Amino acid sequence: MSLPTSSRVLSGMRPTGQLHLGHLHGVLKNWLTLQYEYRCFFFAADWHALTTDYENTSAIPQNVWDMIIDWLSVGIHPGEATIFIQSRVPEHAELHLLLSMSTPLSWLERVPTYKDQQQKLKDRDLATYGFLGYPLLQSADILIYRAGLVPVGEDQVAHIEITREIARRFNYIYGREADFEERAKEAKRKMGKKNAKLYKELRKRYQEQGDDEALSTAQVLVNNQQNLTLGDKKRLLGYLEGDTRTILPEPDALLTKVSKMPGLDGQKMSKSYGNTIALRDTMPTVETKVRTMPTDPARVRRTDPGDPEKCPVWQFHQIYSNEEVCQWVQEGCRTAGIGCLECKQPVIEGIQAELKPIQERALRYTEEPDTVRSLISEGCERARAAARETMEEVRQAMGLIYR
Ligand code: TRP
Ligand code: SF4
Repeated sequence: MSLPTSSRVLSGMRPTGQLHLGHLHGVLKNWLTLQYEYRCFFFAADWHALTTDYENTSAIPQNVWDMIIDWLSVGIHPGEATIFIQSRVPEHAELHLLLSMSTPLSWLERVPTYKDQQQKLKDRDLATYGFLGYPLLQSADILIYRAGLVPVGEDQVAHIEITREIARRFNYIYGREADFEERAKEAKRKMGKKNAKLYKELRKRYQEQGDDEALSTAQVLVNNQQNLTLGDKKRLLGYLEGDTRTILPEPDALLTKVSKMPGLDGQKMSKSYGNTIALRDTMPTVETKVRTMPTDPARVRRTDPGDPEKCPVWQFHQIYSNEEVCQWVQEGCRTAGIGCLECKQPVIEGIQAELKPIQERALRYTEEPDTVRSLISEGCERARAAARETMEEVRQAMGLIYR
């Protein structure tokens, strides 16, 4: 027996090249736990990289391999999780296309990241069809595996929300039973014309636009009908939420806790801020980066006391240091008993100890590219088999079967 698809977890990452500590503590640690609890699909979203970088694609393949090597090196296990590359599963594109037929433009235009990113990346022309379709492609990524849960950060919640709406609309349009209208009409007739009309409108508003208020209003309407039998009420309540076959189930976001891992300057760790420690930074680089980290600006001289709360190094201690060391920092900083370089030493050692085994594995994978390629080929095949199953049903539901 195969597991229900609702126990599937799917997540993707755009290939930005070698990953950093922010990815490790913010995303990958979470994936590591999930891979033992669910049937996980993790993929490199190379097509999504194209939505903003279509002019220069030369770095994409290397970025994909670097990212995948980092996943493997931190312990994402190809025997536990299905690891693959989006463009190697062309079914994603087919579903994207089919969904594009019924997706209202306004849904895409109102996704907050659409305008935000256009503002942020002003140097690029993002008035493209592909960029507008970013969230739809992401929806296809998710729906094609009928994943129940999608681990994402806060910034991606709007994308999961639109995925739910797209799935609901698809099911509404293509998942109706043949005798649906008949059965619905019969039960509705007993409500009287006016109520039946209202019921129909509310149901439509809920199913087509995801209007939750319309749903609860309709539920009250049905429950208040004096002349309906309990059976009829039940039937009408059922029709409200569906009586459509669920071809593409609605996923839930699995919110990843905000990472405690800040960048070297205390801002969010991000390549674009130049404040990262890469998983494959050499040991001396790690040392230099931490030694040159800014500290509490109040500590101009060694004898000036400081406040760890105003220092990004303290945030690193909270991740890498035990109770005792944290105590030492608190006291030493506030009394000027320790110097900043002294304070940074345990952080340097903590990061180096964490990265050492990761880098050893990364080195092995880099030296054996064929191994990595074959692991990923297997992953792509497994993903493809699952994607094909869904597409069979999607084509069937849409009447696109030619046999
Ligand atoms: N948009 C996601 C990001 O930028 C990447 C992504 C693409 C994704 N498809 C997905 C994440 C499907 C989760 C599920 O991080
Ligand atoms: Fe930051 Fe440590 Fe220096 Fe205090 S002693 S300012 S916590 S680096």
